Amino acid sequence: MIKQSFRKIYGTPPEVIARSPGRVNLIGEHTDYNDGYVLPAAIDRTIEFGARRRSDNFIHAYSIDFQDEVEFSLDAIEKDNHHSWSNYLRGVFRFLQEGGHRLAGADVAFGGNVPREAGLSSSAAVEVGAVALAMKLFEIELDPVEAIRLARRAENEFVNVPCGIMDQFACALGKRNRALFLDCRDLSYRYVPLSGRVKIVVCYSGVRRALAASEYEIRLNQCRQAVAQIGTTGLAVKSLREIDLTDLEVASPSLSEILLKRARHVVSENGRVLKAVKDLERGDLESFGRLMIASHESLRDDYEVSCRELDVLVELALKQQGVLGARMTGAGFGGCTVNMVLADAAEPFAEAVSEDYKKATGLNAEVYVCEASNGALVAD
Ligand code: GLA
Repeated sequence: MIKQSFRKIYGTPPEVIARSPGRVNLIGEHTDYNDGYVLPAAIDRTIEFGARRRSDNFIHAYSIDFQDEVEFSLDAIEKDNHHSWSNYLRGVFRFLQEGGHRLAGADVAFGGNVPREAGLSSSAAVEVGAVALAMKLFEIELDPVEAIRLARRAENEFVNVPCGIMDQFACALGKRNRALFLDCRDLSYRYVPLSGRVKIVVCYSGVRRALAASEYEIRLNQCRQAVAQIGTTGLAVKSLREIDLTDLEVASPSLSEILLKRARHVVSENGRVLKAVKDLERGDLESFGRLMIASHESLRDDYEVSCRELDVLVELALKQQGVLGARMTGAGFGGCTVNMVLADAAEPFAEAVSEDYKKATGLNAEVYVCEASNGALVAD
């Protein structure tokens, strides 16, 4: 696909190509920026990149999805608010150069089928894909974690979105038929097999994540405040990852009602991820499903990042045959739910949920039956 598109745009085939998937988080929500645990998977929806070198110092970039193009000099890479799709690429190239890597002019084209603003990390897919592309085109060697950190830095410090590290990690190092269990404190990870008995079904609510940015930052600050307040009780902690529900109970007089709720979500969610990994490893998918449901309730009631449409999607999902678990996934306030459904029931599930959701809300859900796939830095 990208080869033909590139040829159409630039007249020759690309010298290098890269491919980067979106991701879905199975469990472990709003835990990454609390040094906690997450369990995402890369999905079989990707952004593809093609590139060839130029003889000057300019990057010419073409977005196939926006049918729009930009040109910028590597000598002074600035943010471009008129072509915001290009900022992920700009940020990555800028930080690669700042890290001492030598880049050169290039013609780049990219596009794909990861839905935007749907909570499936299309931006992380572009950042990680841009790093993978630059590594190939300019023969740069980076270890995967360095590449992932750089991609995240582009999002945090160039695009100015304060995300954690989960998305870039999953887009880079997800693996076929596996979930990725990541400890966001020391970035150690391992793969957990996903049973062929089930399918991951993602339902996009059709609600763009309007509040996500501002509310995300509020949650992040509330978690920091909770840690500071807990510290006043004599429990020296750096993050919510370091405490369990009993510690939280003891420290609860130091916390306002709202901070207690936020902290309770994060602490209980970390516990759920650890249990979920064990469940997957011993094939107890029913128990895994129950943890997904508990995660949704905690995100809805304690962390308060769900919305009516996501709650409706989860409720409808749980009424269907063959469903083991359902929850909102990603930052919240719109975007998607993730569902674990027995393989045979996945297609009828997808149809029934779409139909029921339309009836209940008047909105069209987009439903994807996903395969866990390889990340941009994992060889096929
Ligand atoms: C967004 C962020 C991630 C993570 C999730 C919530 O996707 O980019 O880093 O914090 O929200 O789990």
